[in-house]
Amino acid sequence: MTRIDKNPEGGRAVAVSVRGLVKHYGETKALDGVDLDVHEGTVMGVLGPNGAGKTTLVRCLSTLIVPDSGTAVVAGYDAVHQPRQLRRVIGLTGQYASVDEKISGRENLYMIGRLLDLSRKEARARADALLERFSLTEAATRPAKTYSGGMRRRLDLAASMIGRPHVLYLDEPTTGLDPRTRNEVWDEVKSMVRDGVTVLLTTQYMEEAEQLASELTVIDRGKVIANGGIDELKAKVGGRTLRIRPADPLELRPLAAALDDLGLTGLATTTVDADSGTVLVPILSDEQLTAVVGAVTARGITIGSIVTELPSLDEVFLSITGQKASAPQDVRPELEEVAV
Ligand SMILES: Nc1ncnc2c1ncn2[C@@H]1O[C@H](COP(=O)(O)OP(=O)(O)OP(=O)(O)O)[C@@H](O)[C@H]1O
Ligand SMILES: [Mg+2]
Repeated sequence: MTRIDKNPEGGRAVAVSVRGLVKHYGETKALDGVDLDVHEGTVMGVLGPNGAGKTTLVRCLSTLIVPDSGTAVVAGYDAVHQPRQLRRVIGLTGQYASVDEKISGRENLYMIGRLLDLSRKEARARADALLERFSLTEAATRPAKTYSGGMRRRLDLAASMIGRPHVLYLDEPTTGLDPRTRNEVWDEVKSMVRDGVTVLLTTQYMEEAEQLASELTVIDRGKVIANGGIDELKAKVGGRTLRIRPADPLELRPLAAALDDLGLTGLATTTVDADSGTVLVPILSDEQLTAVVGAVTARGITIGSIVTELPSLDEVFLSITGQKASAPQDVRPELEEVAV
């Protein structure tokens, strides 16, 4: 049985608990005192720009590297003192594909099952069940090198599920995948979470975090710079946007002009979203909302609809890290040897 620490506040047990984790590489502080908790059966999104320390965190939590100081406890097992027990309850899909390209998908999964001490029969059954689940049955006997990027990622996910992990680490699972394949991977992750798996997901894609994670930890240069629920972080960054649609579409420009004239202090100017026939105006308080509505009606413009929008996660990320989040189209090249 796995021991789980009870979380006194949330009711859900804490599956991953990290305190003061530090890891240096020479002069580089890859992790500089990281704290985080992942609750049972939830997805924690770890966001951060390149070099933030995401992979280093995942490596510490997988016992692949030993931290210089701090503690990491996964499903009740300490990463430094109980690495063997810990490894039995985790699954890992690394940032770069880890399957053996020369052998088939089925052989890859069978081999991992055998490494995890399953009998031949069990390993075969588990491989077949996972091939089916990840829609790889038809390609099961082909060498993995003939698989598309998405099929390889699905094989990676299947491989990390062989040992029925309690906690799964996904390190940038969809970097470089096309949108359709990315959606397939997201669906698989969601279905694993429904089955009760706890997931720690690192990503640079805000859309991925929105799709999968319930809580976020933003790290930069080895430090946690923000954490909390998605809406909580959005609210913390401050500011909302009003999206106003005039009842008469011809009043779109006059509406924008009225709002510009209002000159709300310290705010960016209004923007016209002609495609949707709406005007966007950033506000900082309820008083400003009242002022906006008052100014518009004073001009004789009838408001068709008005909605408040929280900032996008991209805006949150920009505001917290001072850097733009990656667009999913950024296909990062796999590491490869360069002939000199
Ligand atoms: N084996 C290593 N030797 C030396 N420095 C390392 C090593 N691994 C990581 N680093 C450094 O530690 C820092 C954190 O790296 P890490 O790979 O954890 O970042 P990351 O957030 O995963 O980045 P990316 O988004 O590019 O994958 C970086 O400055 C990196 O250069
Ligand atoms: Mg990384």
